[in-house]
Amino acid sequence: MKADILRLLLQSHANGDETSFRKAALQLAASESAAGHVRVAEDIRAIIAKLPATSVRRTGPVVDIAAPRGELADVLEGGHRDERLRDIVLRAEVRDLLLRVLSENRSRGRLERFGVSPRRRLLFHGAPGCGKTLAAAVLAGEMGLPLMTVRFDALFSRFLGATAVQLRAIFAEMPRRPGVYLFDEFDSVAKARGDSQDVGEMNRVVTAFLQLVDADASGSILVAATNHVELLDRAVFRRFDVIVPFDKPSREQLVALLQLRLGTLGLDEQQAQRLAGSAEGWSFADVARACDDAVRTMALDDRERISERDVVAALAELKRRELPTRN
Ligand SMILES: Nc1ncnc2c1ncn2[C@@H]1O[C@H](COP(=O)(O)OP(=O)(O)OP(=O)(O)O)[C@@H](O)[C@H]1O
Ligand SMILES: [Mg+2]
Repeated sequence: MKADILRLLLQSHANGDETSFRKAALQLAASESAAGHVRVAEDIRAIIAKLPATSVRRTGPVVDIAAPRGELADVLEGGHRDERLRDIVLRAEVRDLLLRVLSENRSRGRLERFGVSPRRRLLFHGAPGCGKTLAAAVLAGEMGLPLMTVRFDALFSRFLGATAVQLRAIFAEMPRRPGVYLFDEFDSVAKARGDSQDVGEMNRVVTAFLQLVDADASGSILVAATNHVELLDRAVFRRFDVIVPFDKPSREQLVALLQLRLGTLGLDEQQAQRLAGSAEGWSFADVARACDDAVRTMALDDRERISERDVVAALAELKRRELPTRN
């Protein structure tokens, strides 16, 4: 492992690749601290801190490509989003809360004049298929920022030894590339902490995450999403400015979802009301999928308006299959 890092260090220096050089040096520091050589690790980090800032900006106009490249591309996926608030069904309080967060972030300057900053660390929690990932995309779409999704699965399985280093690289990206940073399936940190053989490594990851959150002054919005809020430590909780619950849809919300999805294809409110009755108990994602199925039937039939029957059939199919998200 160390030989690999040293090779990378020398190679990147030889290539004049500042970014990889910095990354390799950080990995070296991490591996030293993992080996208990805390002093050496600190020295290395101090040297890195004194390195001149990377010269990306000097190479010409900054091209705003949302998708990260290089090593980071494995753990961070990015893209611009078209989703807007009108595309998501939310409880009134949750909608108001998100609207408020959006206006705070749009009025950053005004807030800062009075010594406060916008709330930008959000924890989304709730059942699967109820809009956590979608809401993060909506925030990005509304702010005109890319949604940068951190792939925790890749972070853990591929680079276990260097997970904290990868996390650092992601946080280093935040000031450089303003965006909505979504730490999806965030509970995997906590879960892995519980059942990994290497408890020391996971504790280091959590500690690194908390320190990085504390130190982050990027202005980027950070969203952590989880189905298992009960697995999170108090220490983790405290880092978030806003905690947003995403519940299974109420009957009213099912009506709203059906109208959102099928209203333009002729589904009226009464039909939506009736259909919502048979959709009760399912998640938004399940019902959205049934709506798509109904549209497929309509299209294959060469019609341009949806019939209530198409949706009834799609919902029945959903029940027959008893998708695993139902609980
Ligand atoms: N509140 C909602 N309003 C409208 N559509 C929704 C809502 N929630 C989910 N959907 C639909 O279901 C799809 C999947 O939802 P999403 O990925 O946001 O769920 P999630 O809460 O992130 O689930 P998981 O916990 O499994 O990651 C969305 O892309 C959208 O089509
Ligand atoms: Mg999700």
